Amino acid sequence: MFVRELDSWKKLEGHLSGVGRAHLRDLFRDDPRRFERHSLGLDELLVDYSKQRVTTETMTRLAALARETAVESWRDKMFAGERINGTENRAVMHVALRNRSGRPLFVDGRDVMPDVLAVLDHVRQFSEAVRQGKWTGYSGKRITDVVNIGIGGSDLGPAMVTEALTPYGREGPRLHFVSNVDGTHLVETVRGLKAETTLFTIASKTFTTQETMANARSAREWFLGVAKDPGHVARHFVALSTNEDEVRAFGIAAEHMFGFWDWVGGRYSLWSAIGLPIALSIGFDRFEQLLDGAFAMDEHFRSAPLGDNIPVTLGLLGIWNTNFLGAETHAVLPYDQYLRRLPAFLQQLDMESNGKRVDRAGQPVGVSTGPIVWGEPGTNGQHAFYQLIHQGTRLVSCDFLIAAETHHPIGDHHLLLIANCLAQAEALAMGKPAETVRAELIEQGLAGETLDRRLPHKIFPGNRPSTTFAYRTLDPRTLGMLLAMYEHKVFVMGAVWQINSFDQWGVELGKQLATRIRPELEAEGQVTSHDGSTNGLINFLKGARGAGTH
Ligand code: F6P
Repeated sequence: MFVRELDSWKKLEGHLSGVGRAHLRDLFRDDPRRFERHSLGLDELLVDYSKQRVTTETMTRLAALARETAVESWRDKMFAGERINGTENRAVMHVALRNRSGRPLFVDGRDVMPDVLAVLDHVRQFSEAVRQGKWTGYSGKRITDVVNIGIGGSDLGPAMVTEALTPYGREGPRLHFVSNVDGTHLVETVRGLKAETTLFTIASKTFTTQETMANARSAREWFLGVAKDPGHVARHFVALSTNEDEVRAFGIAAEHMFGFWDWVGGRYSLWSAIGLPIALSIGFDRFEQLLDGAFAMDEHFRSAPLGDNIPVTLGLLGIWNTNFLGAETHAVLPYDQYLRRLPAFLQQLDMESNGKRVDRAGQPVGVSTGPIVWGEPGTNGQHAFYQLIHQGTRLVSCDFLIAAETHHPIGDHHLLLIANCLAQAEALAMGKPAETVRAELIEQGLAGETLDRRLPHKIFPGNRPSTTFAYRTLDPRTLGMLLAMYEHKVFVMGAVWQINSFDQWGVELGKQLATRIRPELEAEGQVTSHDGSTNGLINFLKGARGAGTH
């Protein structure tokens, strides 16, 4: 049945007309316990969703939607290793990668935990050997720099996590990430690096991704340009992949490959061998703390009742904002410079997972699905795009993230950071009504027509929904909890929309066309095989790079 035809959906539509009129100002005024009622906690994480435009009744009705769309049963299927990724006929078991319970987890009747633990042990041994200087480069010197070559899920997770946990990575090698096929990315990254002390981790689930393989080949060329002897490659190139044949074909021996499995989706893979750069950076013990944090969230997601369940609540609020309040975009606003790359990571997680137009049965979903996810760290964003969120015509839902303690307690910076984070969420929710603006303008000496002309520009409508995530400090465990929380939030939204959140066919067409255009760029003569625009652009670029079409 289409989601909008479900009884619980229709009841939410009815409910909307009532609560839709309520302003957050009134909701807070009418309920002194609103914060307690609409916030949740797990360990050192506080999730305050009281600035979302919901009432207790909204949450009850949203929980009914979760029940009618069998969110809990889909969650249980995931944990049970069922092939819930229908279009690729795969299980979805990234939770096994951080299963710290000692309990078995099965895919096709086979406990996957021995394999998971064996790879983790390989990651431990290798990362410790590199960090302790026991694994050296070809000249016997210790590894000082690690360059991860990968894209999408094989880049964004490790890149974001290593940056987020910079304070924990000071004793490890320096980490670099090359993803873009634009040669600039590789060239600028290896500029200044020494081949004899640089290790490349080639990260690709498939080991066939065009960009990654082009970068890996050029990295090897750069390396051999200095090291000369192909025998040295073995000490400087390791592979993180599921595809042993392709890894071997590239010239990396099986013992230098860190494996994972088809039941780990690319955007869910930072917990797997793809996390090797993280372990190299912060050390294996702290990598395990990251896994511990994710496991704590997994256990919570698996067992907490719907109303107390953080990922379920966030997913349902996402549905409410997207489908009932009409928010088209969702801003991720970490008040934490170390989380600079979190919005980019969440873009792939959310938009590649839930950017779908048909449901599991192939029928149009009939309602809006995954929101456009974007964001920047605070306070920078305040001086760029917050204007639109406060006074523009669109509704943007926001996530604020803030730590109580900073890694860098200089001056009163952190108090300013906290103050700004809380102030923005407050301003978005409460706004500034006409009466307040009028009184302020009068106090400033304005009157009559001048005041009337200024007034509308200074009004903040407020009622902009946000959730604030507050935690003690950004450490590996807390980060693990936050990331698993977002993974499961995306899962819940996909389950409500009845879509497959685990495939990504939408990226295929462009890849196919690029493969076709690539040789055309070098062929003689005008290209006429595409639409007029694409032909025109190909021919212009060929001409401009002197490929001889004019
Ligand atoms: O862009 C599509 C995609 O398949 C992502 O889902 C994935 O994370 C990325 O490409 C990289 O894939 P691979 O790890 O196989 O190189």
